[in-house]
Amino acid sequence: MGITAKEEGWKLDEITVEIDKEMTTQGARKIKSLSLQIKMPVELKEDQLQVLQKATRDCPVLRSLNNSIQIKVKWNQAQKKKHTTLNFVPTHVFRETPQVTFFDAGVKGSNGSDVVIHHGSALSPPNDDDFEQYYVHHHQIDHNLVLDGSRTFTLLNPEWDEPHHVIYLNQKMGALQIPIGTYHRSVSGPDGSMVLNQAVRDSDFDSSKEFIPVSLRERPDLVAAKAVDPIYWIWEGDQLKRTKLNSLLVKTQQIET
Ligand SMILES: [Fe+2]
Repeated sequence: MGITAKEEGWKLDEITVEIDKEMTTQGARKIKSLSLQIKMPVELKEDQLQVLQKATRDCPVLRSLNNSIQIKVKWNQAQKKKHTTLNFVPTHVFRETPQVTFFDAGVKGSNGSDVVIHHGSALSPPNDDDFEQYYVHHHQIDHNLVLDGSRTFTLLNPEWDEPHHVIYLNQKMGALQIPIGTYHRSVSGPDGSMVLNQAVRDSDFDSSKEFIPVSLRERPDLVAAKAVDPIYWIWEGDQLKRTKLNSLLVKTQQIET
């Protein structure tokens, strides 16, 4: 496949191959069959894939091995990453008097709510030894609104083109919406914080399955997502801003709300 791509002048980025082997159960122990799952880069077009698949079928090594071992090949193509932006459901302040603020905290469609209080610099979920842990929901969309203090959320989602976000959430930013399938954790400063989560749950929601922490210990895909430079979401000058930092450049893009 590599030789064909080179001849055609095609650049192949990451190709992954997962191999499962099946051993014989009778006679001398040897490999009976190999199952190959080949994941091709997202950029390749259909006609290019067909040329590379034919090159694999015509490969002399594969042909030689096929005489003694059954080889099954399955082809997949990597999915295009989703372009994702985060949503913040605004609060509506309808009355302010000295030292008192009244605001509407409603989230449309919410059918479950909980209040999570961090007493001091708490972390949820807690670490698994030296490994961070994250919550992920499959049947619940979170809407986290800070009622008191501030809370820093880290979001990881390997399916996003920007898989790592850090949100310095305060009450003025509104309720942070955390989409299904997004891994999340939060930490408070020394003064603690109080957060109201107004969830939207579907009919398959099961509380015994939705709050099981996932450790980075066994998730290299999440470790890779965390290694990407994060997008920072901050409140500055009475506006929500999305900021990306790297060692050479600081870019700030004002969010249209
Ligand atoms: Fe959550």
